[in-house]
Amino acid sequence: MATRRQLIQRVGALGGILAAYATMRQIGLLGPDEAQAGPLNLAPGSGRGTKVVILGGGLSGLASAYELGKAGYECVILEARDRVGGRNWTVRGGDKIEQTDGTSQTVGFDEGLYLNAGCARIPSHHQLTLGYCREFGVAMETVVNATRSGRIQSDALMGGQPIQLRQAIYDARGGVSELLAKAVAKGALDAEVSPEDKARLLSFLRGWGGLNPDSMTYKGSSRAGFVVEPGAGDQWGTHRDPIDLKALLDPRIWGRAIFEDDVDMQTTMLQPVGGMDHIPKAFEARLPGIIRRGAEVRKIARTAAGVSVTYFDKGANRLRTLDGAICICTIPLPVLARIESDFAPAYKQAIAANVYGDAVKVAFQSERFWEHQDQVYGGLSFTDRETSVVWYPSGNYGAPQGIILGAYNWDDQASTFAKRSIAEQIDYARVSIDKMHPGRGGLLGRGMSVHWKKIPYSLGPWSNLNETPDAGYDLLSQPDGPFYFAGEHLSHVGAWQQGAFASAHRTVGMIDARVRAGRPVTETRAQ
Ligand code: PHE
Repeated sequence: MATRRQLIQRVGALGGILAAYATMRQIGLLGPDEAQAGPLNLAPGSGRGTKVVILGGGLSGLASAYELGKAGYECVILEARDRVGGRNWTVRGGDKIEQTDGTSQTVGFDEGLYLNAGCARIPSHHQLTLGYCREFGVAMETVVNATRSGRIQSDALMGGQPIQLRQAIYDARGGVSELLAKAVAKGALDAEVSPEDKARLLSFLRGWGGLNPDSMTYKGSSRAGFVVEPGAGDQWGTHRDPIDLKALLDPRIWGRAIFEDDVDMQTTMLQPVGGMDHIPKAFEARLPGIIRRGAEVRKIARTAAGVSVTYFDKGANRLRTLDGAICICTIPLPVLARIESDFAPAYKQAIAANVYGDAVKVAFQSERFWEHQDQVYGGLSFTDRETSVVWYPSGNYGAPQGIILGAYNWDDQASTFAKRSIAEQIDYARVSIDKMHPGRGGLLGRGMSVHWKKIPYSLGPWSNLNETPDAGYDLLSQPDGPFYFAGEHLSHVGAWQQGAFASAHRTVGMIDARVRAGRPVTETRAQ
């Protein structure tokens, strides 16, 4: 079965009402909202000094340490990198991107400019994420995801001319409304619609579709944008001629125009001011002396008293061991699969069978032509090329320079795209932006690429294990004796920070219930 992200990305390519309906069902547009995990309130002191070894200083590891610490547990986080945050990674000028294929890039952005190479948007209903931001005083701003000023570009459509989203959206609405109004007028819906409801439906179509009130036809609308902007004197302004509905029924157009209807993509979305990594940094500031960086886990062992973890201390260039009663393992499964452990065989199997996705982001520094020449302030444009989107920076509008994303693709499309060398990916993304904004490709400089399958200690942007009912997912959601697992991969909010927090809260709650009940942590479930 296709994953949620594949469905969203491919909907335009699949086409057809059935595909759209199946997508809406699977992404929950027709079902109830995702359940919210409640706040976690462990009783202070309930941990009574129980030692917890947390593997991984990403969001689930940080939140676990923070919550357990407040309740009197003694936590240590082993983090392989020299920074915390995991896939919450903001890159700035001078940062190095080293990938498992041996490539190394030094980010060339000017001071003050950055790219959120991983997590880059927070939906307003992700209250665990936003709750921590509020609690820690992380300054937030809007991240523009959907903009009517964005574009759709395909060489196969309109002679390759980009179409503005406002035109695709409102002309499609107008065209469909006109058709429906005609059907109503002819009595074609008389069996379905009562005479009173008919009047209400027509009035709805007039308003929703922007129809001419007398003729009930769609002749274009200022909603879809102007050819000549209204001004002073006799400059009344002229709106565009509508695009023919037949052309707009192409899934490459409407499939992109409905991207922003996904509940996770709806405006308003948020980001921390100055970089997504202000979230892990806020946790870090509240966990003094708890995080060991440069600590690469080599062996996870079961002992009579709980766990013993052997790690390579990169700074000291030596192996060390750390013992505890309980271990929370947040290491992404493709990485964990390569680490020696005493996990029960069924757990090892579930870890080895992990199904992770893929993603690539390619970014450039540039003068902000998209703002002053093309009137785009943040948000997305869509292409049917392999790069998928162009994403414009939110905030600092009108500044001389900004970081523009020329590629952000998912899963199979990302893996295919990443068969190119980094230089070729950058060239390809430059062409994608140039097609979207003809003649501007030459302004793009300092290109860089992040291919998540090749980022050490992550080996992928997200898990796809949680997309469908899965025995491995169910197993890993339960402890294996003293070993507990957590991370976005063990939530149904996969590929979001919210998922990492939801999973951490669940795991921390299970541990606390066990410790308070005085059940021995070495007890193993029958396998
Ligand atoms: N959270 C990621 C994003 O914003 C990945 C994702 C995409 C997750 C689509 C769910 C749906 O792009």
